[in-house]
Amino acid sequence: MSENSPAIGSTPDTPIGAGSRPLPDGVEWTAVLVAAQRAAESLSQTPAFRDPLAEAVMTYLGLAEPGRAPHFATMPGQMSGMTEAMGDLVTLRTLYLDEALTRSGLDQVVLLGAGLDGRAYRMPWTGRRVFEVDRPAGLALKEQAADAAGLSAVARRTSVPVDLAEDWPQALVAAGFDPARPAAWVAEGLTVYLTRAEADLMMSRVHDLSAPGSRLCVEIAQPLGTRLDDAATSDAGVHRTLSVLRYGPPTPPHDWIAGHGWSPDASTLAELGDRYHRKVGTPFDPARGGVNLWYFNAELLPRR
Ligand SMILES: C[S@@+](CC[C@H](N)C(=O)[O-])C[C@H]1O[C@@H](n2cnc3c(N)ncnc32)[C@H](O)[C@@H]1O
Repeated sequence: MSENSPAIGSTPDTPIGAGSRPLPDGVEWTAVLVAAQRAAESLSQTPAFRDPLAEAVMTYLGLAEPGRAPHFATMPGQMSGMTEAMGDLVTLRTLYLDEALTRSGLDQVVLLGAGLDGRAYRMPWTGRRVFEVDRPAGLALKEQAADAAGLSAVARRTSVPVDLAEDWPQALVAAGFDPARPAAWVAEGLTVYLTRAEADLMMSRVHDLSAPGSRLCVEIAQPLGTRLDDAATSDAGVHRTLSVLRYGPPTPPHDWIAGHGWSPDASTLAELGDRYHRKVGTPFDPARGGVNLWYFNAELLPRR
């Protein structure tokens, strides 16, 4: 959030809606966590982007009044500690990936672990195809929230409700994805929830489906260890997040990315913080004893 945005967890005049709906279980819950941060950015005084879908989800779940920033401190399964620790991480990766995807000009976008990503609703992507791959419950929540808010996608959005452990390539192609044409693949906030075997399988499937000219936008994080456990802000949201982290890809991840056929150039979160003049939380800032996060906007390497 920008400096003059309402402080997360300090807006006691923003009650949780009386008709609160249950939050999703398991790893799907993490999609609400990051959507809440985009909603807070969207509703700040000087937002870096607007995200009407994230706002709609907050209202639908009863986590905020319409047009009001979510109030993390009183949410079921508190999110204030995690949000405090992450600083502007979600805003930074949103800005970086929005820019990369826009610059790519690719008109087939596949969001892996799409969760409550609102790009199909908020980017000026009329005519672009956006395929959203995630477990069914998370995608259903998104559609219910959008319907309740009367929100329509701008892009040609296609839901692909399937677990990444299943045969999602077949489901994606059946949904209209064309593997003969280049695509932009996005794995934002995803690989930390996959084991090494799951991450390797995802990468080899992505490679098999990638025509020349495709790009891969992926976030990879170094394991946090006990950094969040020790944080003064530790709460139920922190513990819930830690319980679903698997950290599949090895770090530093450059050789792993290249080994899967993609150019290994990356920006770190700290570099994005400098570029967009936003705060990086201490646990994610190596200069203050934190871990690294890398953001790849990779080109497909020539096939060997
Ligand atoms: C932190 S959220 C990120 C969502 C979205 N990419 C974003 O940045 O807003 C992680 C997402 O990965 C999804 N996910 C994790 N493991 C998955 C799996 N095995 N199959 C499908 N989706 C998965 C979760 O359901 C969740 O929506």
